[in-house]
Amino acid sequence: MKPKLQVALDNTSLVEALQSLRLYQDAIDVIEVGTILHVAEGIEPVRVLRALYPEKIILADIKGADAGSLLAKLCFDAGATWMTAICSADVNTMIGMKKTGQAYGEDRDVQIELYGDWTMEQAKNWKDAGLEQVVYHRSRDAQAAGKGWDQSDLDKLSALTDMGFKVTITGGLEVHDLALFKDLPIYCIIAGRSIRDASNPLQAAEAFQAEITRLWT
Ligand code: 5RP
Ligand code: MG
Repeated sequence: MKPKLQVALDNTSLVEALQSLRLYQDAIDVIEVGTILHVAEGIEPVRVLRALYPEKIILADIKGADAGSLLAKLCFDAGATWMTAICSADVNTMIGMKKTGQAYGEDRDVQIELYGDWTMEQAKNWKDAGLEQVVYHRSRDAQAAGKGWDQSDLDKLSALTDMGFKVTITGGLEVHDLALFKDLPIYCIIAGRSIRDASNPLQAAEAFQAEITRLWT
C-alpha cells in the first residue's frame, strides 16, 4: 500500500497553523498537531481541527511519557484519531493509551516515537503488548548537528517492518530523500518544514504525493 502523507503542524500558534494548512489541506492524508503547537496551545488545536476536518486522520503528537490513559482521554475526547507516546515510556503507559483509544473507536491508535536509545527487545515487547505503529525519527536537533540517513537507519526500519509494525518515517524529510526508503513498506511519511516553509506549500505537498506514487505504486 502507498504511504500516507502526514503534515506536521509545528507552528507556534493555532492561527498560523490554520493559515498554513488551508494552502495544502486537500493534498495531504493526515494532519499532525505537532509537539510545538501542543506546547503553544494545549489540546485546543485538535478540537478545532476536528471541527473543521471531520473526515481527516488527526494525530496529536504529544510524545506522552506517563499517565497514558489520562493523556489519551484528553487527546481522544478532543477528536484525535491517533496520538503519540515517547519510546522511553513504560509499556503500561502505551497500553493505557491504546486501550483508552479503543473505547472511542477501532481506528484510534498510538504511534510510538522512536528517539535516542531504544532496543529491538523493547520493540518486541511493544508488539507483544498490542502496539502497532512506530515513528522512526531523526530528531530536528540531530539533523541540525549533521545527522543524515544511512544504512543503519534502513536496517532498523527493515527489522521493524519485519516485526509487523506499521512504520512511519520523519525528521527533516525532503522529496529527494524518499527514494532511499522505496524498498520498505512505509506507512506514513511525515513532513513538516519542507511543506510548511516552502515558497509554494501546495506545490511542495503535491511533489511529495507525486514522488510517493512514483516510488510505491
Ligand atoms: C519533531 C517532530 C516533527 O513534527 C517531525 O520531525 C516533522 O517535522 P520536520 O519535517 O519539520 O522535521 O515530531 O520532534
Ligand atoms: Mg511531530
